[in-house]
Amino acid sequence: MALYAIGDLHLSFQSEVKAPMQRYGKIWKNHEEKLSGNCRRRIRPEDTLVLVGDHSWGKRLSDCEKDLEYIERLPGRKILLRGNHDMFWEAGKTEKLNARYRGRLNFLQNNFYSYKDYALVGTKGITFEGPFYLDRYGRIAGWDEQAAKQAEKLAAREMKRLRTSFEMAKSAGFTRFIMFLHYPPTNLLQERSCFTDIAEECGAEQVIYAHCHGEQRFHDSIRGTMRGVTYSLVSGDCLKWNPKRIL
Ligand SMILES: [Fe+2]
Ligand SMILES: [Fe+2]
Repeated sequence: MALYAIGDLHLSFQSEVKAPMQRYGKIWKNHEEKLSGNCRRRIRPEDTLVLVGDHSWGKRLSDCEKDLEYIERLPGRKILLRGNHDMFWEAGKTEKLNARYRGRLNFLQNNFYSYKDYALVGTKGITFEGPFYLDRYGRIAGWDEQAAKQAEKLAAREMKRLRTSFEMAKSAGFTRFIMFLHYPPTNLLQERSCFTDIAEECGAEQVIYAHCHGEQRFHDSIRGTMRGVTYSLVSGDCLKWNPKRIL
């Protein structure tokens, strides 16, 4: 039995691809086939695969059905986290999605799932992505204060969801946690954030995140072990469509 994760499939079986990088980037060519091939080779029916957000370019659920069917056909138990592009997944409708896809797909938000003696907890998260202002040497000299404030407001909402997830898992008796975020846990400049703080406070052993695309973005946040928590980036293009084994 094993736990795997990968994020940012950005499927488009029924919709239009909006990112030029995905349209023209070599790594994205036939990425659906590369991923399903890799999954079939490695993941067994008793394993769990967590898909860490940005599943589909579709705007409404009716535009995403084929994308979700593709995910359903991947081997193992599938757990989905919400990404910033998942317009089909309105924040208040997680329960409805879980009812509709019961026994096929599991949607992680304001709840948790178990894996052996671990609780898998998580939320979309949020990171301030700029605009940052550069000086003439190309170093970050400042940023848009208003946008940074807005990100902080959104972070408070995400933290509430994450706390709910942790608290439900704790009340069910879990003491070991793997924490999932779609956004990286910190912005470019930060060493810590509310998300790294809660991971440390609740004793998450690992934090798994995605969202960062293209080599220039792969080191936007923490990777490796910091203050007792191990952080991994699992965006699909970073993993070359090979799910990462988490446990
Ligand atoms: Fe993405
Ligand atoms: Fe994203």
